[in-house]
Amino acid sequence: MNNDFKDIVQNRKSIRQFDTSVKISREELTEILDESISAPSACNLQSWHFVVIDTPEGKEKLHKFFMKFNLRQVDTASAIIYVFGNTKSYLKYRDLWNGMVESGKVAPEARDAALNNFLPLYEHASREMLLADSMVDSALVSMQIMLVAREHGYESNPMAGYDSSKAAAEFGLDPEQYVPVMAIAIGKPDASEVVPDTVRYDVKDVTEFA
Ligand SMILES: Cc1cc2nc3c(=O)[nH]c(=O)nc-3n(C[C@H](O)[C@H](O)[C@H](O)COP(=O)(O)O)c2cc1C
Repeated sequence: MNNDFKDIVQNRKSIRQFDTSVKISREELTEILDESISAPSACNLQSWHFVVIDTPEGKEKLHKFFMKFNLRQVDTASAIIYVFGNTKSYLKYRDLWNGMVESGKVAPEARDAALNNFLPLYEHASREMLLADSMVDSALVSMQIMLVAREHGYESNPMAGYDSSKAAAEFGLDPEQYVPVMAIAIGKPDASEVVPDTVRYDVKDVTEFA
């Protein structure tokens, strides 16, 4: 385990060729996700859903709609965590708050206030807003997944190069409800891969103070 926060954040790079001999157990993949879902989300709706692909059959499905330049990562990664936005996360929102009341974390009045304030916003929201919220939540949890993966000693590559109209149905999800946001390849880097240094625009060029 790597506990050096600065190293985890500053030395993350996209890896596109993984060591195929490395298998990450489902237990550890679940642990990585469990540690990642501390990510913030709009109204704590947690509008994300994960499909973890770690079998040849699952990878074969990705071959049908992923862009060719991503197949190397797909084929060599220990697993691909496909992060979907859940545009109907508000349907579970009452359960979340009821659970918090039952476990004594909040008073019933606080639950009622939250449900009265937030739930109607989502029940009456446009598709555009539901999509945007679920994609922002999913992007935040995706970043956490990549950093938590590094904490566990793995590297990653976020991928959005695929035919997004095909993703949900391929994995048996309702395409109306679930929108693909990012597929994250995870594994140990192949030692022979030369990883290019990527550069960023100068912070001053992308920052204003007001
Ligand atoms: C939304 C998004 C989509 C991306 N899609 C792909 C992709 O389809 N294939 C790929 O190889 N890299 C993809 N990347 C990785 C970027 O190319 C990479 O993060 C960027 O070049 C900076 O390099 P670094 O991650 O090594 O710092 C994606 C990154 C993001 C954030």
